[in-house]
Amino acid sequence: MTDNKRPLKTLDRVLSKAGLGSRTEARSWIGAGRVRVNGQLIQTPDHWVDLKRDKVTLDGKPVKAGEKLYLLLYKPTGYLTTYDDPEGRPTVYDLIKDVGQFLVNVGRLDLDTSGLLIMTNDTQFAELVTNPDFKVPKTYLVKASTLLSDEHLDQLRQGLVLSDGPTKPAIVKRLRDSGKYTHLEITITEGRNRQVRRMIEALEAKVLKLVRVAIGPISIGDLKIGQYRNLTPAEVSLLTQKKDI
Ligand code: URA
Repeated sequence: MTDNKRPLKTLDRVLSKAGLGSRTEARSWIGAGRVRVNGQLIQTPDHWVDLKRDKVTLDGKPVKAGEKLYLLLYKPTGYLTTYDDPEGRPTVYDLIKDVGQFLVNVGRLDLDTSGLLIMTNDTQFAELVTNPDFKVPKTYLVKASTLLSDEHLDQLRQGLVLSDGPTKPAIVKRLRDSGKYTHLEITITEGRNRQVRRMIEALEAKVLKLVRVAIGPISIGDLKIGQYRNLTPAEVSLLTQKKDI
């Protein structure tokens, strides 16, 4: 995905799109007088820039449009999907420190959820893939705290009423019942806050373990927990094709 149709961008956006930092950080650099456009000191973050014509520098170094990066991270439990935690807990950004680019997370996983998380500097791609109307399916493995009946699984399939409205149809497979627990695989196309946990709670059970094993056609494969790999161009394009389940 490219931004070629919009050559004009605000100065803070140009800096953050170049992968140098967040827009908030960019604004503070601009305010601090570290940024020049065509040699002229600019301290207004909303200053319009055309990167094809204008020369932007940060601390005297030229700023170039960053390459698009798409990472697939296998997030372990215990890591927050946030850039900065006031309590200093580990975040997914600790796992991609060596990338040297500012990326945004595409959607979120709870602290106690592990599995696939895409990180990118392509904000248009991130917006598209998280847009519920675009319906990118996400598949989770769930360990429920009780044995769930076939009727329960049908309720998950058909949609349950949660506090923020009914859920859309889901694909649900019973994987196995072991002792007191049901293990299942669920695929949903929405990405509401704690959605899978709340769906299981609506059945008077709890989620004991939750792993996101696939986003659209991309699954965990050989990826090791805590590690990341680049998405291939083919995977990026598959994710941006509209699919219904
Ligand atoms: N649903 C949840 O309940 N939690 C997640 O982290 C992802 C989906």
